[in-house]
Amino acid sequence: MYVSDLALNDFRSYREVVLALEPGVTAFVGQNGQGKTNLVESVAYLSTFTSHRVAADAALVRQGTGGAVVRAKVFHGERPTLVELEIVAGKANRARLNRAPARTRDVLGVVRTVVFAPEDLELVKGDPGVRRRFLDELTVLLTPRLAGVRSEYDKVQRQRGALLKSAGAARRRGGRVDLTTLDVWDAQLARAGAQLVTARTKLVRTLRPHVAAAYEQVSAGQGTARIDYRASIDVVDEVPDPTAEELADGGAAGDVARAGVEAREEALLDTEAVTTRLVEAMGRLRDREIERGANLVGPHRDDLVLSLGSLPAKGYASHGESWSYALALRLASYEVLRADDTSPWGRDGEPVLILDDVFAELDTRRRERLAGMVAGAQQVLITAAVPDDVPASLAGVRFTVHQGQVTRA
Ligand SMILES: Nc1ncnc2c1ncn2[C@@H]1O[C@H](COP(=O)(O)OP(=O)(O)OP(=O)(O)O)[C@@H](O)[C@H]1O
Ligand SMILES: [Mg+2]
Repeated sequence: MYVSDLALNDFRSYREVVLALEPGVTAFVGQNGQGKTNLVESVAYLSTFTSHRVAADAALVRQGTGGAVVRAKVFHGERPTLVELEIVAGKANRARLNRAPARTRDVLGVVRTVVFAPEDLELVKGDPGVRRRFLDELTVLLTPRLAGVRSEYDKVQRQRGALLKSAGAARRRGGRVDLTTLDVWDAQLARAGAQLVTARTKLVRTLRPHVAAAYEQVSAGQGTARIDYRASIDVVDEVPDPTAEELADGGAAGDVARAGVEAREEALLDTEAVTTRLVEAMGRLRDREIERGANLVGPHRDDLVLSLGSLPAKGYASHGESWSYALALRLASYEVLRADDTSPWGRDGEPVLILDDVFAELDTRRRERLAGMVAGAQQVLITAAVPDDVPASLAGVRFTVHQGQVTRA
């Protein structure tokens, strides 16, 4: 797919801007703080309803105004679709599809993007929450229905957490704790949680070969990347968890370790079984959960483990290796979306690639490799403060961004 027209009103620094875009490479060039990222961020926002820079929508609305509007015309093959999103700080977004009011969840998945940004380094170096978000956003792009499951899980988790906290306080005062309500929450948390666990496990299995291949390409064969899903239910149930070293072993020990992971993943793909296991685990953990006042098992405690050869990437990988890993995760996402043909928008699930300020972060060799890998994509939007940072092989349309004015160079 590609975006042919983009119009913003009161989005970030823009009062109004209208742009005609083309398939292929488009670079937005200009000095710091001129509004380059704001432009591409608006396109990315249409795909996930989140920004790669801020958690709250308020920052997306131009200061002093009540709401922002992002409008885009996108093409899936020959088929045009008009997407409109009104962002009102602190309120639910209002969406329109082809000028008719639509539920926001029907708009999810219409615009698909994969964003590469300096913040991606956190995928490797940051907390598990960053990696969970990575998996969940990709899962929702592939299966928009899961957006509902995800917010349901968050809601139940918050309410159950509050209940556990007050139960803990009551118990410390020597009072009575009503456990029947908790049973209801356990069942709800398990049902939504198991769906997320299964979806993420499935995604990790799909991504795995792509991550390995992309890392190999970006790093010029300097190391083998492997990703694994670590589910807290497996930790609680004491399912064997082979180390990166065991998994990387080329001999019989490695075969045993990999077969173990295979069996563990097969088990996580069975949503019913995971639901049961979660309910049972919460039963066993109940006293501890009340004592701690927190939900101790479920997808909010899971992680995506990144290994490089026989070592975990986190805490061991060099700066350059971490960058290559982050790029490999994004490139793999692109490949998975491109290959996906389940979207209602036809077989053209190829996402728009957004490279926000990444070339400045990479050495020449990685720059060239990344450029080579994205050059063939249907649409690539790039931002750069220094024009020469964009590799020559990515010649395409250039816009200059200066004081909020976007002009074709
Ligand atoms: N909600 C908002 N209202 C008004 N101005 C905003 C809002 N959000 C951001 N800005 C302003 O937008 C400007 C441009 O931001 P942007 O991140 O797009 O710059 P950039 O061109 O990508 O710069 P850099 O090269 O440093 O990445 C900033 O000066 C910022 O203060
Ligand atoms: Mg920027």
